[in-house]
Amino acid sequence: MRFNAILAAAGCGWIFAAGSAAINACNPQNLTYSNEAPPNGTYMPWNLIEGINSVPGSRQYITIVNLTPHRFVLQNTHSYQMDTFDWGDVPQGHARQNVVVYTNKAGASAVDDNGEAYYAIDGTSKTFFIRATTHIPDTHPARTVIDLTGLGQGQREYLDPAEQSPVTLVITGSDSYGFMTSIKYGPGNWMKNMYDVIKDRQIQHVVIPGSHDSGMSYISNQIIGGGISENTQTQGISIYDQLYAGARYFDLRVGSVHSVTNTSKYSFWTMHVNDETAEIALGNTGESLDSVISEINQFTAESPGEIIIFHVRYLVGIREVPSLGPIYWTSSIVDDFFSKLKGVNNRCGNLDTSSTFNQKPASYFMDQNGGNGCVLFLLAGDLQSGVPQDSVSDGIYQANVLSINDDWSNLGDTQPMAEDQASDWKAVARGGSSDTFHISQWLVSADIFTTTLYTIEGIGIMPTNPALYWMGVNNMNPQSWPTVILTDYIGVVVKGQHNWNQLSADLYTLAVGLNLYMVSQNCNVSSVSPLLSGASSELKMTSLSETWGGIIYANGTVVNEPPRHLHPGRVEILKKGTKFMNGTVLEADVRNPDFQSIAV
Ligand SMILES: *[C@@H]1O[C@H](CO)[C@@H](O)[C@H](O)[C@H]1NC(C)=O
Ligand SMILES: *[C@@H]1O[C@H](CO)[C@@H](O)[C@H](O)[C@H]1NC(C)=O
Ligand SMILES: *[C@@H]1O[C@H](CO)[C@@H](O)[C@H](O)[C@H]1NC(C)=O
Ligand SMILES: *[C@@H]1O[C@H](CO)[C@@H](O)[C@H](O)[C@H]1NC(C)=O
Ligand SMILES: *[C@@H]1O[C@H](CO)[C@@H](O)[C@H](O)[C@H]1NC(C)=O
Ligand SMILES: *[C@@H]1O[C@H](CO)[C@@H](O)[C@H](O)[C@H]1NC(C)=O
Repeated sequence: MRFNAILAAAGCGWIFAAGSAAINACNPQNLTYSNEAPPNGTYMPWNLIEGINSVPGSRQYITIVNLTPHRFVLQNTHSYQMDTFDWGDVPQGHARQNVVVYTNKAGASAVDDNGEAYYAIDGTSKTFFIRATTHIPDTHPARTVIDLTGLGQGQREYLDPAEQSPVTLVITGSDSYGFMTSIKYGPGNWMKNMYDVIKDRQIQHVVIPGSHDSGMSYISNQIIGGGISENTQTQGISIYDQLYAGARYFDLRVGSVHSVTNTSKYSFWTMHVNDETAEIALGNTGESLDSVISEINQFTAESPGEIIIFHVRYLVGIREVPSLGPIYWTSSIVDDFFSKLKGVNNRCGNLDTSSTFNQKPASYFMDQNGGNGCVLFLLAGDLQSGVPQDSVSDGIYQANVLSINDDWSNLGDTQPMAEDQASDWKAVARGGSSDTFHISQWLVSADIFTTTLYTIEGIGIMPTNPALYWMGVNNMNPQSWPTVILTDYIGVVVKGQHNWNQLSADLYTLAVGLNLYMVSQNCNVSSVSPLLSGASSELKMTSLSETWGGIIYANGTVVNEPPRHLHPGRVEILKKGTKFMNGTVLEADVRNPDFQSIAV
């Protein structure tokens, strides 16, 4: 099980929230969402994607997202050799992009650059600190250390991905509920772990992460379609890891690949092509359907109780050397495909389709299969008339059983895409007549030359995904949010770092936090307020917010029980010239009173 890699030392299993004891009802008088708007952030220019990272003059961003009922109050800062060290409060339900500029003044030794921001969580005894520091020489010399010791949530050293590409910290929960943060993943079955929070919500009101062309986590070269990783691969981790990374909506594109000499010989693969019905489809294949199926089964056996949606497209054949157009599936190929899908456990056959799934409560799906939840297959491919379109008794449905608004901007740069996406989700009146299962495709569609130059991974993880957390979040509120947030390279935050301990739980924690906090602030669509101090203990689910005192280093090494005084990146001596938030500048070196502190 994925999260055990980090929590092995804790040695305790996740316990589910049991029972349905009385929970605080949602009350419009108890809402804590702030109407204060933090300053606007800045988008990373794309020409920095392939830049060399060096510290002098480098401008770095650290985004803090507050999905708690408490304000995050900046208490103090100190910095040495920073031309800008701009931090501030983060109001409830908002994000702030903080700015650090490492000096390029002659004579400054970048090895000594550092700074620290101290936050208090208002109305609680909890604190957290963020350090900007350097590690020289290294291909990622700028580092951000997120120190959550004062929240009982450990520490993590992040590589700053590139100049102007933000490091993100998402915090959700509350003092009474417990806090969880994006520096590490929680349990695989996050939905089951918040069953009491989401069970009565319509599924269009449960925010879930999604992945774009989910099967393309590697290039399997089953067709000679010219697609290479740079312009065709859309994910860095397998379906199994995507499930642990929180994804519940999969844009799965499956086709059959046929022998050129004998088109009766074929096998099923996920794929990414420019046009699956073109005379010559350009692109490539990813994971095999067989491996996708076994990964789903492994996940649901370990982490039962979820609603997992596969929106399946293409459903045509392509020759190994793409030519002569698509091979439309015969009944025999469709039957063959369905018999593969029947190997998936926890399908949900014969669900009520007299109305669309949109307004059915999450519990309708989560309670199926004895509480093991549902893996739903919704077909939206190119099946021709005369062949089977679904197999309802086997849990294989036509896609229109769920009415979706699949919002794809088809724009070639991050900022116009982000503005288009935000304005579209704001147009959905939650609880009103335009309410829908709104899918925000938070991804950019650049032309082939730009994409190949910067790569789908580079464009996704450096300028585009991080903008979700400052621009996207600040354009959400209790009335407006997308149902699905669908991205490229889910979980990945540094290019090429695809191992589990190198991922970051940004989207996982954002989705959990939007459900716990943002949607719960809208009493029209949510009946409970899980984060208020009066909420019943059943709702507190310590399972989502296990206490942890470990350190995750930038190289992926995890130390579960470090010495209590260890705070990576904290300096022993505050040097002459160190600036404090109140304007004081040190005139002589001073020992840092917090160095090796065990107080939190
Ligand atoms: C919620 O609001 C009601 C009515 O104003 C009040 O009685 C109650 O104490 C509030 N609960 C919390 C947890 O603030
Ligand atoms: C922030 O950006 C929004 C649009 O994205 C704009 O309407 C607003 O005026 C900006 N605020 C400031 C302070 O620049
Ligand atoms: C073509 O492939 C099918 C399926 O593998 C096989 O049954 C058939 O014998 C093959 N035909 C020829 C001419 O090889
Ligand atoms: C709830 O619905 C009512 C009636 O449609 C509307 O006036 C109100 O603004 C809504 N409240 C929220 C929090 O969305
Ligand atoms: C990872 O980094 C930590 C802390 O700098 C170090 O102690 C450890 O040896 C490193 N591990 C590897 C495999 O490089
Ligand atoms: C400014 O802050 C520093 C560090 O907290 C403190 O030592 C110093 O006394 C403060 N100076 C003034 C003028 O308040």
